[in-house]
Amino acid sequence: MSLSQLEIIEPVSGEHNLPNYPEVRRHFDWEDAKIGLSFNETGKLNIAYETIDRHVHDGHGDKTALHYVNGDERISYTFKEVKEKTDHYARVLKENGVVKGDRVFVFLPKTPECYIAILSVIKIGAIAGPLFEAFMEDAVRDRMNDCNASLLITDKDMVERVPKEDIPSLETILFAEDIEAETDGDTVEEYVEWMDPEDGMLIHYTSGSTGKPKGVLHAHRVVSHQYQSGKWVLDIKDDDVYWCTSHPGWVTGSVYGLFAPWLNRATIVIQGGRFKAEHWYKLIAELKVSIWYSAPTAFRMLLSQGDVLKDYDLSSLRHILSVGEPLNPEVIYWAWEELGVRIHDTWWMTETGAHLVVNLPGEKIKPGSMGRPFPGVEVGILDEAGEIVKRGTTGQLAVRTPWPGLMKEIWGNKDKFDSYFKYEGWYLSGDLAYQDEEDYVFFQSRDDDMINSSGERIGPFEVESKLIEHEAIQEAGVIGKPDKVRGEIVKAFIVLREGFEQSPELLQEIRVFVRNNLAAHVAPKEIEVMEELPKTTISGKILRRELKKWEIEKAG
Ligand code: WT7
Repeated sequence: MSLSQLEIIEPVSGEHNLPNYPEVRRHFDWEDAKIGLSFNETGKLNIAYETIDRHVHDGHGDKTALHYVNGDERISYTFKEVKEKTDHYARVLKENGVVKGDRVFVFLPKTPECYIAILSVIKIGAIAGPLFEAFMEDAVRDRMNDCNASLLITDKDMVERVPKEDIPSLETILFAEDIEAETDGDTVEEYVEWMDPEDGMLIHYTSGSTGKPKGVLHAHRVVSHQYQSGKWVLDIKDDDVYWCTSHPGWVTGSVYGLFAPWLNRATIVIQGGRFKAEHWYKLIAELKVSIWYSAPTAFRMLLSQGDVLKDYDLSSLRHILSVGEPLNPEVIYWAWEELGVRIHDTWWMTETGAHLVVNLPGEKIKPGSMGRPFPGVEVGILDEAGEIVKRGTTGQLAVRTPWPGLMKEIWGNKDKFDSYFKYEGWYLSGDLAYQDEEDYVFFQSRDDDMINSSGERIGPFEVESKLIEHEAIQEAGVIGKPDKVRGEIVKAFIVLREGFEQSPELLQEIRVFVRNNLAAHVAPKEIEVMEELPKTTISGKILRRELKKWEIEKAG
């Protein structure tokens, strides 16, 4: 698409929860984001209470909280039912000895039980660790061991992928099926533990370019940021049906699949099963989804299916959002032409707890830009000395500290935590970007070797470590290779050990080895055998950047 075609898209008319961005941004104070939340009046805080129980106490218990769709299966719960279920799970957890601050992991498919389990853990003051449903043994083990998790809620299928004997801290495994079945002893008691704003509530493991995944800990104070961004960016109103396609094992799925929409009392959709264009469109038509939050790869996959969308009535859609990877203008124009709705790109990270740079429904969109700073957020594009660069110049994307959503710590890793704050007063994202005269931020690339495939953050080190565990591999370097649909795909360069010959069977075996031990989405789609890998002369570290440059040049 040529630049002349990059036309600004003006907002569609209608009432938006944030009608005047420039004005609000001038006067906004984070204290304002607490208004409407219960702890602002009572002084008692628990994000799980604010997310569900508050609505029941305010007289909205009969409103539908969720629709679950999986194939032909349909389940709906009201807010009252979700509250009662979280109380029930909370009682069972307490009976199993869970106390404030314990790490309790949740390893379940995208079902109502997954959402309810996460909330119940937080309700009793423990820290919830949601795991992506496709993780294999090593991925589960590394995360639970890192923060000494004591209890796991899973189901009787997925437990097959939990290497119990390798997780010494794990005392108890509970099956969601059993918790559901055992309703005897239920009382009308409330199980809410009141928390300090700085107490931890959620831990998400995420990859960087070095080392194993890091545990990003969020504190209860994140609530006001998630609530306010749900109101303004998701633009939730009382009659909306809201669907976020991400699993709660990823931060998009927890923050904007569970917390932000429910803090705003939205009816949410939980969809089980895999991606299929027909199923997605059918779901939107059947449930009359009005707000839809997904990722560029998914939109590109839908776009490539062409006219399939003409078979469905998608007129309920009024607001679409995107996150996780660069949203190419072509996709925005597609949605605008085919659906008459703009796609609003948003930028944030696991570490940031909620949105930082956003496109708002009441503001113009410049395709190619992630939007402008959320009210209360100050963005800085910095040079190597930590100084702000001229507008239009690419630099390090940084954000003025603090803000309510900012992570509390990296579990057990103060050095890693400190590395985000090497310039006084700034959080350093690791992304490169520029900002134009009107404050719009344009993503350029990552500043490190992190891979972004389909919006999923993949650490090359984790994949390389797994690869060299294979008997045939002596060395491995892993990069993200540019891909039209997925943004990047995982590509591995390997050097074989003596006595091993390259063959399609061997490469397939290596791929399966990574998939079966770590997770399918991190398994290299391409493997290339090399005589040797480029390395730094002094430390002998593999130069991933060289591999990437080489790969891109080769592709022309
Ligand atoms: C990284 C964070 C929390 C959102 C889901 C991903 C990339 C995120 C965008 C965007 C271009 C984006 C960045 C960022 N990213 N949003 N709108 N355009 N890139 O969270 O797994 O913590 O990854 O995703 O590189 O640093 P995450």
